[in-house]
Amino acid sequence: MTVLLDAAEQLGRDELGALQLGRLRTTLRRAYENVPFYRQSFDEAGLRPEDCRSLADLARFPFTVKTDLRDHYPFGMFAVPESDIRRIHASSGTTGRPTVVGYTERDLDMWADVVARSIRAAGGRPGHKVHVAYGYGLFTGGLGAHYGAERLGCTVIPASGGMTARQVQLIQDFRPEIVMVTPSYMLTLLDEFERQGVDPRTTSLRAGIFGAEPWTEEMRREIEERFAIDAVDIYGLSEVIGPGVAQECVETKDGLHIWEDHFYPEVVDPVTGEVLPDGERGELVFTSLTKEAMPVVRYRTRDLTRLLPGTARPGFRRMEKVTGRSDDMVVLRGVNLFPTQIEEIVLRTPGVAPHFQLRLTREGRMDHLTVRAEARAESTGEQRAAASASIAAAVKDGAGVSVGVEIVAPGTLERSVGKLRRIEDLRTG
Ligand code: DLL
Repeated sequence: MTVLLDAAEQLGRDELGALQLGRLRTTLRRAYENVPFYRQSFDEAGLRPEDCRSLADLARFPFTVKTDLRDHYPFGMFAVPESDIRRIHASSGTTGRPTVVGYTERDLDMWADVVARSIRAAGGRPGHKVHVAYGYGLFTGGLGAHYGAERLGCTVIPASGGMTARQVQLIQDFRPEIVMVTPSYMLTLLDEFERQGVDPRTTSLRAGIFGAEPWTEEMRREIEERFAIDAVDIYGLSEVIGPGVAQECVETKDGLHIWEDHFYPEVVDPVTGEVLPDGERGELVFTSLTKEAMPVVRYRTRDLTRLLPGTARPGFRRMEKVTGRSDDMVVLRGVNLFPTQIEEIVLRTPGVAPHFQLRLTREGRMDHLTVRAEARAESTGEQRAAASASIAAAVKDGAGVSVGVEIVAPGTLERSVGKLRRIEDLRTG
């Protein structure tokens, strides 16, 4: 079947660059003229929007960080009158004020377009049924996926998160081709299929579109094998739009194409802020190119990745699967460790289930990390002991740091219903 691509998906790099520069200049002007925060930050840097004459000039402009958004809670970053705002979303904000984002009608329209494009890249087609198990509400996952699936011409099943037994029932009865859910909640669904005695390989599902948290190639393999589906990655963040900033194509599964006609990426050195050349790892930074309600200029995501040339959509650059957020990095006796590194190891280890948690404790002045991984029901005591030793050795070999490992009984670790928190920090003082 031939797939019709959006016009922007067929642009060459030069044409795309020209489109981006025009949109970037408009965005800088919109931000400067309508948002006091941007006016002040550009003025302090001695810059005017018209100083941006090439895409490279963007690097001269100041960054925007999450606390800038929090400091202007709730609506101080909006560039349009409140009466033009059609939707508000907000990030949960583990501490203090949440981060609020707003959308005009045209923003919602663009968002639906990029999510529709993402679902199509994952193999979704008009007429498919899409089971959305991302949470609905202030979180952007549920509603973002929902409107994108409708835009593509799919039938949406707005299941939202939770009520896991019922989700399994709905998947069997309604027969969706596509599921959109966090990878950790997909594992919770997997347990439930097995509990109900249903073989997860026999469902109608053909593809899963997984995001909102980091996940690894090992997790892809686990999900693809256990469900007999294609598993692809979707990336986004509420400050930039929500899901649909970048999407992995099912035919290549080689990282996520960034929808660069709407979101301009840079990768910078997380410490110095210097822009890094494509191919080098650092912190991802986005500038919105078409957003009206809340343009963002050089927003620091804290997500670590690198930019690569396009493949399945040659005009757009790809971002490598996100290794993690700089905030989730554990520094253990001077060694940087990401939960994804542990995920790769745990999922390769025989005898343990793909469920694990990282517990941080402090003894005296020393921080300790304990990997708590769940045994598979059928594994023997001997296999569990071997798994424990093998995880500890693999972390020591790979990262060069000693960690404790505790193999816990099947079904004892808390299950995810949305975004999973991998780290339990019990350090005090
Ligand atoms: O998580 C938007 C989303 C919903 C994306 C559904 C994909 C699917 P926030 O709640 O603002 O928005 O959280 C954004 O989640 O900065 C990353 O740290 C992380 N994240 C999102 N997608 C991925 C991914 C939504 N595919 C934050 N891989 C981002 C790794 C991801 N991390």
